[in-house]
Amino acid sequence: MEHCAAIPSAPAGPAPAWDQLIRADHVHGSLYTDPAVYQEELNKIWFRTWVYVGHESEVSNVNDFVMKSIGPEPIIMTRDKSGAIHLLHNRCPHKGNRVCTTEQGSARSFTCPYHGWTFANDGAIKGIPFPSGYEGVDRSELGLGKVARVANYRGFVFGSMAAEGPSLEEHLGGARYALDALCDTSPEGEVQITAGFLKHKVKANWKIVMENETDGYHPSFVHASIFEVADSKIGDLYSAESTAVSRDYGNGHTENDLRPEFRKRDVPLSWFGTTPEKLPDYVARMNAAYGEEKARKIMIDGTPHIMVFPNLFIAEIQMFVIQPVAVNETVQHVTALQFKGAPDLNRRMRQQTMGSVGPAGFLLADDASMYERTQQGVQMKNPEWNYIGRGRHRERRDEDGFLIGDNTDEVPTRGIWRHYKAVMEAA
Ligand code: FES
Ligand SMILES: [Fe+2]
Repeated sequence: MEHCAAIPSAPAGPAPAWDQLIRADHVHGSLYTDPAVYQEELNKIWFRTWVYVGHESEVSNVNDFVMKSIGPEPIIMTRDKSGAIHLLHNRCPHKGNRVCTTEQGSARSFTCPYHGWTFANDGAIKGIPFPSGYEGVDRSELGLGKVARVANYRGFVFGSMAAEGPSLEEHLGGARYALDALCDTSPEGEVQITAGFLKHKVKANWKIVMENETDGYHPSFVHASIFEVADSKIGDLYSAESTAVSRDYGNGHTENDLRPEFRKRDVPLSWFGTTPEKLPDYVARMNAAYGEEKARKIMIDGTPHIMVFPNLFIAEIQMFVIQPVAVNETVQHVTALQFKGAPDLNRRMRQQTMGSVGPAGFLLADDASMYERTQQGVQMKNPEWNYIGRGRHRERRDEDGFLIGDNTDEVPTRGIWRHYKAVMEAA
């Protein structure tokens, strides 16, 4: 189809010289501030590789739709009458107006407010007012643009605007294990995204946000106040003595794997700051679903802390979706994770999410002030580089061959930049 070209053309000037901006343990400040870099990222990452868009539970019924995005581009995620999920560009093929103006709902079709063209929820053109003006025109060419590839991993729906490229499973690679562990926290093996989203806008480049998600070095300092007020043991997981590890799964996916600490504690649900006695219904359902031994193991290990490149962050109890809207502006969409068949766990998930990242929560507010200060800092000179070499001398491989380090080490940061450089250097 001709009409999916909401993609800006390549910048007029030469592409940045990536190997001069990204070194093994340094990255240049302009990577966060240069509009030409941002434009190249849209072309090479956001409008080409796999990007997380939404969860199938957000369009659980036939004809449901929800507004999503791929980078700055608005995308309508729909479920058509046959049950298939579509990712449609929210751009009228007539003169470019937005055809969908509501956040979510149920609709068999969308009518453009400008001249009334109507589109089925699979994107096909359905009706054009005063049709005699289009005699002889092939209407099949006038549907909404579709994201070229749509794929679903355990309910997580990703889109790629490139018709060809690695499959979603190839792209996810080792990150699949973490998504599997997340889904297995539900007695029915499914995550549900039903708690609604909060949106946090920060004046910072999206990569500052992405790097921070698996930066195990900052919590002891930035989050000291919330750990103290909440009398939380989370801080111990990010101490210099922690046995937790940081991991680079490749393809830009990174993790703080906290399981070594939880296994040492050997207490189910300690990852969630609670005990089996407080969630008897959940524990009973897990035992019934998996058998006591496996259920106990799942409940000790807890949910992952993983950043799926470039925009899906699973933070134990929450999910964040990172959306760049300009070189120096990013929106984080955050929601409480919910698990199918786990109402008592879900209630606590929502409460803890409100407490940590809700309007009165400190957690994201503290991170946000770091993002904005860092954005201001990376514009300055002397030095023009960020140093990302922490723990390079003690990087090692885990039993699956993935690069790991101490939990406070910058193994994830270096993994992100290694992948970024490869993607940006690709033709
Ligand atoms: S711009 Fe949509 S119908 Fe004209
Ligand atoms: Fe943080």
